[in-house]
This record gives sequence, C-alpha cells and structure tokens, in this order.
Amino acid sequence: MNFELKPIGLVGASTEKCDALVLLVPQDFKAGKDDLSELVGQALKSADLEAKPGKLLSLYKPAQAHATRVVLAGAGSGSARDVRAAVVAAVAAVKSPSLKKLLVCFAAPAQEAAVRAAVMAVADASYAYTHTKSKPEGRTLSKVLVGASNATEVQTTFDRAVATVVGAEMAKEWANRPANHATPTLLAQAAQELAKLSKISCEVLGPKEVAKLGMGAFMAVAQGSDQPLRFIVLKYSGAAKSQAPTVLVGKGITFDCGGISIKPAPEMDEMKFDMSGAASVLGVFRSLAALKPAINVVGLIPACENLINGQAVKPGDVVTSMSGQTIEILNTDAEGRLVLCDALTYAERFKPTAVVDVATLTGACVIALGGVRSGLFASQDALGNALFAAGETAQDLCWRMPLDDDYAEGLKTGFADVANVGGRAGGSITAAKFLQRFTEKFPWAHLDIAGTAWKSGAAKGATGRPVGLLVEYLMAQAQNK
Ligand code: BES
Ligand code: MN
Ligand code: ZN
Repeated sequence: MNFELKPIGLVGASTEKCDALVLLVPQDFKAGKDDLSELVGQALKSADLEAKPGKLLSLYKPAQAHATRVVLAGAGSGSARDVRAAVVAAVAAVKSPSLKKLLVCFAAPAQEAAVRAAVMAVADASYAYTHTKSKPEGRTLSKVLVGASNATEVQTTFDRAVATVVGAEMAKEWANRPANHATPTLLAQAAQELAKLSKISCEVLGPKEVAKLGMGAFMAVAQGSDQPLRFIVLKYSGAAKSQAPTVLVGKGITFDCGGISIKPAPEMDEMKFDMSGAASVLGVFRSLAALKPAINVVGLIPACENLINGQAVKPGDVVTSMSGQTIEILNTDAEGRLVLCDALTYAERFKPTAVVDVATLTGACVIALGGVRSGLFASQDALGNALFAAGETAQDLCWRMPLDDDYAEGLKTGFADVANVGGRAGGSITAAKFLQRFTEKFPWAHLDIAGTAWKSGAAKGATGRPVGLLVEYLMAQAQNK
C-alpha cells in the first residue's frame, strides 16, 4: 500500500481521481464557496451530517466530486482520537473489492497528531490477514492519498507515520501467523530477509553456538520442544562504527503452553502471540530501512517454543545463565524472563548507550494497565522519560512502573542465586526486577506489552505495537546526536 500526502483542500478533493473520498469534517468546519464545501455545509445545517466522530453520511456518485463513493465523516475536535474514530468508521464504510485508490481529505488544516492518526487508522482498518487462508481476500487498497491544505507543515510527521505503518504491519503479520507457520527458524528467515535492505545485516545462531555462549537459561526453555532455538542478531548501521548502538531485545517465544507448569486450555491459542516483542523488533528494522536515521541499532531475538516433552525443564530445576548467575526455575511458565536474561547479557558486548527489551511478559501487566498502555520500566529517568515521550508522540502509549528493590524480595531462594518467580502480587514488577539483575552494565528499559500487543475476542489479532513508540524513540535519538 502506497501513501502520498497532497496539498489539497476541498476544491482539489472534488477533482481528484479516486474510487472513494473520505472527507473529515470537524465541528468548526467553515464552508467555502466551492460545490463540495456547500454540500458539506448544507448537510451539517440540515443535521443530515453530524460532526461527531464516527458519524457518517455516505453518497454515491455525487455531482460535486469525481470519486464514485464519497463519505462525509464527522471528525469532532480534529484531535488524533477523533480523527482515528472517524477514519476507522469511514474506511469500514467504503471498504469493498473495488476499492483501490482512496483519498482521505481534511476539510480544515490538519494537526500533526491527526495526520499520524489518519495514516495509522487507514492501515489498521484495511489490514487483512491472509497467510493461512485457502482463498485469500487480501487488501485491495493499493494507493492512499491524504489531502491537507497545510500539507507542507505536516510532511515530516506524515513520512514518519508511513514508515511506522510499514514496520508495524510487518510486526502484525508475523505475530498473527500461527505458531506452526512462525517457528523460530521461520522468524530467523524473516530477519535474514530484512538484511537484504540497505544498512541492515543479520546473523543467526543455532543451538550449538548458543550452548557455547553458555546461555543456560535460554536453552532450558528451548529444551522442551522439537523445534530448534534461534538467536537472531540484527544490525542497522546508519552511523559510524565508533558510535555506540541502542540495543532492542524482543521476546521470541513462538508458542507458550507454559511448559510443565502448563496453562489452562481456554485462550491458549493466543500464546502464538508470545513472540510479539520479537515481531516488533523485526518491524522496527523495517521502519529504520525506510527512514534511514544516522544511528546504530542492534536487535536481539531469542526465539524458541515453550513446550513439553521428556526433556522439558521441570519446576525446581536450577540452570546457569550466561551471566553466571544460577536460576531456580520454580514456574516453567515464567519463561520469557529466562530467554531475555541471556539476551541481555549478550547485549553487553555492544557497549550500548541503552538497551530496551520488549516482551509479552506477564498477565499481571494486563491486569494492571489493560490494553491501553504498555508497562514501562526504566533503570534511569532520562531513558524512561524519553520512551514515555516517544509513546505519547507516536500514539503508542506506555506508563512508567516502579523498580524498588523491595519488589525483588520474593525472588530469593535457598537453592540458587535467584528464583524465576516471586509470587502473584506485583507480578509485572517482580518480572522486571528479575530482568534488572542482568542489566548492570548499561542503561536499561523494559516494555511489558502483554496487554497491548494483541487484541482478544471477536477482533482477535496483533496490533503492531510498540513499533511506533520504538521508531519514535530512535528517531529522537538520531536528532539528539
Ligand atoms: N506469555 C506469558 C504472559 C502473558 C499472559 C501474556 C497472558 C499475555 C497474556 C508469560 O510467559 C507467562 O506465562 N507469564 C506468567 C508468569 C507467572 C508464571 C509468574 C503469567 O503472567 O502468568
Ligand atoms: Mn509463559
Ligand atoms: Zn510467555
């Protein structure tokens, strides 16, 4: 899908050749003298159109526009939130197999945040999963024009939003694929495909190399599955080699049944999304290839299944992590932290400016923050603040959580240096405290995306989060250099 920003208002919108026109009409709309403006003005006056977000008036071949289908969409205050609601409703209304070229036009000067919201909403509303359908009904929409009279002012935001969408859709695609179509090996192949893009390289380690590195915690999770583990190392080199990189680490559990501490059957299928952190790292690299910022970024993905066979790790087993710390695995379902801790230790070799791990880590985070904000943990305020701000700008929200040492009390055990679980209370925080033990050598942050990476229920599917947040954070890093 190709996006283009056009410096047009209502006059331009009426003559643009397209299959469908979505006109975003804010509450404070002021009608001009042109035909389309007058039409909108009349519709508002007669109350046939309301400017509230989500309210639509659909027209077929109106004389005032070249498009076959025109939807006047109430855009409320013109805020990002209202524009998102308007675009989602309008795209659903014009979606059809014949929809190839769509024009979404702001009837009043567009706010930057609203432009970003519009781009993301068109992508979201037109996404179609097809990978495992025998008769795929894919996205027919191939060209999206966004019209705004103040286009030049919002061009940078627009470009960033478009690049973010490309990355977020890659993340969504891989997260949505069932576990038998997204094995560690297939994830590694997807990463290797990314290395065909400029400035990106990829290295994939298998069981032998990982054993040699001493990643005993990662191996303990992988040993219960017949699928061989993969440790993926991606590099984006946008700056001089001498410049220290930011490292992103993505949890890549391609299926999490819980291991011997097995999960209940209902909704267990959703654990195919347990590699959403990994998928978001892949997506970020896709976005970086489009935006080409002058920074260096390393992506690390420990990928394996958390399953049960005769070799599976058992509750009470003690393993030695790459850091040398021994871990008592009291609950095999707390596997994310086990694969991440070895990846965090591996990150030390890059002498990074910061390490950010991204993981569908705890059900407790879903209880704490729901599906609106991801959990953000940071060992330094500067990093925490930068990630929080990036989330606000990208409309990919997160919320800072605490890291007081008292939260680590429950991880104490008499049988190893640390246990992998610390009781139910504050579960997302004890998980973060576990990870923090492996991050002494660099500024570190952790995003728990268990609630935000996918939606359950009728609209079940991956969201592509937090690609937007991460891309925005990295772009801000590039600007600060
Ligand atoms: N992948 C899950 C976390 C999860 C659960 C994400 C539900 C989204 C929805 C993780 O591996 C896990 O199982 N965590 C356990 C930890 C517990 C055993 C301390 C959990 O949250 O129950
Ligand atoms: Mn688990
Ligand atoms: Zn998991």
